[in-house]
Amino acid sequence: MNSTTESGTTIAERVEALLGRMSLAEKIGQLNQVGGADFAPGPKAEDQIRAGGAGSVLWLNNTQRFNELQKIAIEESPSGIPLLFALDVIHGYRTIFPVPLAMASSWDPAVPEQSQAVAAKEARAAGLHWTFAPMIDIARDARWGRIVEGAGEDPYLGSAMAAAQVRGFQGDNVADPERVLACAKHFAGYGYSDGGRDYDPVYLSETQLRNIVLPPFEATVKAGVATFMSAYMDLNDVPASGNHFLMRQILRKEWSFDGFVVSDAFAVGNMLIQGHARDRRDAALRGIKAGLNMDMSSYTYPENVAGLVADGALSVAEIEELVRPILAIKFRMGLFEQPYVDENRLAEVLAQPENRQTARWAAQRSMVLLKNEGGLLPLKTDLQKVAVIGPLADSMTATEGSWMVFGHEPAAVTVLAGIRAKLPEAEVSYAPGSEIRRDIPSWFESLMAGYTGEPPQTPEESESAFQTAVSTARAADLVVMVLGETALMAGEAASRASLDLPGRQEELLKAVADLGKPVVLVLLNGRPLSINWAAEHIPAILEAWEPGTEGGHAVADILFGDVNPGGKLPVSFPRKGSHAPLYYARNITHSPEGSQMYNPRYWDGLPVPLYPFGFGLSYTTFEFSNLQISAPQVKVGERVTVSVDVTNTGEMAGDEVVQLYIHQKWGTDTRPMRELKGFERITLQPGETKTVAFPLGPDELTYWSTNANGWIQEAAAFDIWVGADSLASLHGELEVIG
Ligand code: BGC
Repeated sequence: MNSTTESGTTIAERVEALLGRMSLAEKIGQLNQVGGADFAPGPKAEDQIRAGGAGSVLWLNNTQRFNELQKIAIEESPSGIPLLFALDVIHGYRTIFPVPLAMASSWDPAVPEQSQAVAAKEARAAGLHWTFAPMIDIARDARWGRIVEGAGEDPYLGSAMAAAQVRGFQGDNVADPERVLACAKHFAGYGYSDGGRDYDPVYLSETQLRNIVLPPFEATVKAGVATFMSAYMDLNDVPASGNHFLMRQILRKEWSFDGFVVSDAFAVGNMLIQGHARDRRDAALRGIKAGLNMDMSSYTYPENVAGLVADGALSVAEIEELVRPILAIKFRMGLFEQPYVDENRLAEVLAQPENRQTARWAAQRSMVLLKNEGGLLPLKTDLQKVAVIGPLADSMTATEGSWMVFGHEPAAVTVLAGIRAKLPEAEVSYAPGSEIRRDIPSWFESLMAGYTGEPPQTPEESESAFQTAVSTARAADLVVMVLGETALMAGEAASRASLDLPGRQEELLKAVADLGKPVVLVLLNGRPLSINWAAEHIPAILEAWEPGTEGGHAVADILFGDVNPGGKLPVSFPRKGSHAPLYYARNITHSPEGSQMYNPRYWDGLPVPLYPFGFGLSYTTFEFSNLQISAPQVKVGERVTVSVDVTNTGEMAGDEVVQLYIHQKWGTDTRPMRELKGFERITLQPGETKTVAFPLGPDELTYWSTNANGWIQEAAAFDIWVGADSLASLHGELEVIG
């Protein structure tokens, strides 16, 4: 933060000089984030900005308006401090990339890094400075709607994806005019809400917090993330936005984070609703004391902080401490030198064809082949009559997925369009079948472009659409079913108790399968689904997730073999919603599976995943051999290298994700039966062998211990597995001695 500017003064000196000129009201203003949308409460944005009462504006996506508001800040506010314009640019601004859960399925950090670099370039050209991403909450409960926004269940994979997104958004230097500030959210534990119910309280032990939830956040700090967002919910009975332990102890003291923290929307004021703060004044006091820099639109700070200072409840020094990193970031970005955006540049940036090429590449790499019985895939391009069936087959919104920026007009290539483009000579028919809807609508629906508020289909309309779909399929030689969830079925306020295909989709799948034609199932969804029947009866299943603007092309590229799929699941697929939370890194119990007195965990169906973490097929096959550990025994603090040979034993070039898992066999605490500690996605030509090596040392073997109340690496024996998923069987052992 102390970097020197061209004029020779450091950023810190410029911040102090500016602070010295600012009134207390202006200092408090920097801590206030003003809502620019109609639904946002508070006084008129212009008035707040003119008075020096705003540090940032969010929920606005209008390039011209950005310049108008910035002009007020620069020319009319007392100290002329530029505003930061912020918005949720989660997986693309105009060019939409696969949702983050999908990008994590690539197991290739280059995918989120390059995708978010394009998102940053487009967003910055539109006049935005700051995105509320990456969302890096570890999620082990597939019922939780926001699982779609993160990287899944694993802290090691999650940390790699988190850091990659920060690099993509921010680049090496936040002064880069093609980048935006990133925001690591939601700090912390939001993915662990009771029962997967969005916003519900979270109870997490320190060992879960430090070993599972916090590593991706720490990875973003190491990657230089500029900002953090505090979560909504109570963590161990303390709202995250008033949580001293999280924001002061861990973030600032232990990790030396020098950026700033913004609350989640209205979250400071919400501490009153949550039963933590006595009133809005108390909420503001708690936020500031806990180290929360910026109040996202609850206006508790602007309303109360001056009074709290006058009463002596807060000192000016405490306010300045929170203002400093906000000003520093504005200096670092160069906003004092160039506060405005060139309104003519946006169209040119959005038109760059390479943005869409990156989106297609990202989508191709993110898809996971779940089943391919009898080598039905890849399909031949000489097919004459193909039916593309299902409510999502031609849905641009489902293809782009959850979390669009405000005002975004859907423009995706759907699966239907992708298949038609691939088969220009064939007859490609289409029928959506019965529509699918949430049982309880989402508040967010009304914010989506094209929202009409149309009533649901009547039972008669639904039946007739169903029958049309079956007869359309009957006339074809091959059927591609495109099923899953709409964009609003995952995301914020989109948790569900069941993981079944919603509506009549499974019934339709069965009716079409009964026709006896080859059926390929393409899933568009933002969470694992319990597709047990399909897994048993449908020969080919491709998990395409919510693949973005170029999604339909990417699906067709894979279905017709132009691209060999290589993605792997970043989450376990439960067989039932009631099996959640389900994840691979569990501890071994006293009655493990396979033991003599094994006690089934449920007597009405074993909670083993339908598809395990790390799983994914290819059109070719791979063999793992020659597992080598560079030394059988090492001392605590030393490293070994684990290597393995991977051979492409099939007839097509393809990608494999080589995965390393460990298990510490005994110790001060019990450790998970398996933990991912290394991975690499490689490409192999037919017959080719590559040796892949992973380091294994203190970084991988240290953990937070409840018994020791600290980080420890122990003398103990370790199982090591390397393979293609979390059930890998190629095994070795390592002994670590004291
Ligand atoms: C969400 C955040 C988001 C914020 C601003 C909240 O409802 O929880 O993830 O960044 O709104 O739009």
